[in-house]
Amino acid sequence: MSSPEQSPKVLLTGAAGHLGRQIATRLATTGCRLALCDVAGARLATLATELGDGRAGSTHSILTIPADVTDEAAARGAVAGAHELLGGLDVLVNAHGVEGPTSPVEALDPADVRRTFDVNVMSLFWLCGAAAEVFKAAGGGRIVNLASGAGLAGGAFTGVYHASKHAVVGLTRSLALELGPSGIVVNAVCPGFVTSPMVDRIVSSLGRLDLPTEYAHMVPLGRYADPDEVAETVRYLACEAPEYMTGACLVLDGGLRA
Ligand SMILES: NC(=O)c1ccc[n+]([C@@H]2O[C@H](COP(=O)([O-])OP(=O)(O)OC[C@H]3O[C@@H](n4cnc5c(N)ncnc54)[C@H](O)[C@@H]3O)[C@@H](O)[C@H]2O)c1
Repeated sequence: MSSPEQSPKVLLTGAAGHLGRQIATRLATTGCRLALCDVAGARLATLATELGDGRAGSTHSILTIPADVTDEAAARGAVAGAHELLGGLDVLVNAHGVEGPTSPVEALDPADVRRTFDVNVMSLFWLCGAAAEVFKAAGGGRIVNLASGAGLAGGAFTGVYHASKHAVVGLTRSLALELGPSGIVVNAVCPGFVTSPMVDRIVSSLGRLDLPTEYAHMVPLGRYADPDEVAETVRYLACEAPEYMTGACLVLDGGLRA
């Protein structure tokens, strides 16, 4: 276990989610000092208790920052709060998100489209902007965005989610260019199908449109990803990847788009 001075200080958004929990556990067990953020305050508190009581092998106390990151002030406040509470900030991991509506394009509810973009895209401008300010003052930092395989190809009836994740990929690459000279590296993880409630929700809503509901056979490895495989990839980018790796969108899809 690294000393407190060497432990990366990480703000993780979407921490109470299915992947967020796995990522938080991975980072805690590898010695990171964590500030966990999510709009779901009760689930966040439960997770922090579980991680903080030593069961996950963490020796650090776990801080929580309940916040709706679509609110610009709240998102910026989460970064400032993490920086203050942790006594510095080395890494921002953005793992919040929503799957958005599954619908023929002509039947989309504009409120659903806007909400999806507010959560998946707009929030990243506020979070990454606030982190860039902190990281520039410190001489460097790392940002890891949860994009998706949906950010690299289209999807019928899920165009809102796919378009929002293309935006995450575009923002990741753009910020790598913009922030590289300040010593800030920006990367994304692009998981394909992961065993998760989010995939279950998407697949069941596609089923209501009479579309296929079985996708594992399309994956060369014949299965969905385990959430911990995503968490390990995030940990690698957050804590271990060479600094020269920036602007990368690591695909983790069992060969689906190879
Ligand atoms: N599950 C998958 O198969 C999969 C695949 C590829 C990419 N992803 C991406 O990974 C990320 C996490 O997915 P997941 O499966 O854990 O989803 P999830 O629905 O289990 O968790 C998402 C979390 O984000 C939080 N959140 C939503 N809106 C928020 C807001 N406005 N402010 C703060 N927190 C908010 C939710 O409360 C929830 O805890 C998402 O960006 C998702 O698009 C997931």
